[in-house]
Amino acid sequence: MGQGRFITFEGGEGGGKSTHMRLLAESLRGRGLPVVTTREPGGAVGAEQIRHLLVEGEPGRWDSMTEALLHFAARRDHLVRTVWPALAEGQWVLSDRFADSTLAYQGYGHGLPVHAIEQLYDMTVGNFAPDLTLILDLPVEEGLRRAAHRGGGEDRYERMGRAFHERLRQGFLEIARHNPGRCVVLSASAPAPEVRAQVLAAVEERLLASAG
Ligand code: TMP
Repeated sequence: MGQGRFITFEGGEGGGKSTHMRLLAESLRGRGLPVVTTREPGGAVGAEQIRHLLVEGEPGRWDSMTEALLHFAARRDHLVRTVWPALAEGQWVLSDRFADSTLAYQGYGHGLPVHAIEQLYDMTVGNFAPDLTLILDLPVEEGLRRAAHRGGGEDRYERMGRAFHERLRQGFLEIARHNPGRCVVLSASAPAPEVRAQVLAAVEERLLASAG
């Protein structure tokens, strides 16, 4: 049995995270690797129920600490029910968002102190972390324009205003600067085939080259 890996896709709205996650899953499966794709908030039965509380309704329905607690509750359920069991079986787990989103959205976006988020992380996630995080970066205006075409009623965060989205974009870039061994920033404004190639190159260089 090979060693499983945990890869997360991060970034603001409309960067094509789900598409590129799906494309990477195809490429890895093509190489014979077992892959599970998942998402946050969600990715397990209970976590998907918590997702509804987070992505629907009025932008101001939670204060930032309550909101962070809900994200970490969903995350803990996702890890315990889905991510950790899959990794233990040797699967490659690809997740559309993980804890960097809490730091960017609830921390940089809503002003919750970084140390509070780090404490919640220590309690619920421990010393586990992604092997690789791909941050799909693009200008806020472009991202919100692309996200607006999606519909589906899950638009609570999209309605939080331009300044909020600028703060979280800078937040993701700062997270990448602090974690150069784990994070790679890719320009999501580039044509999709180019972004796909950059995703593959990052996985090749950071994980497959060392996996043999
Ligand atoms: P999605 O649109 O990528 O499915 O994610 C749902 C929303 O949840 C998205 O707008 C970002 C937000 N979010 C947070 O605010 N904090 C978190 O920890 C996570 C995982 C997502």
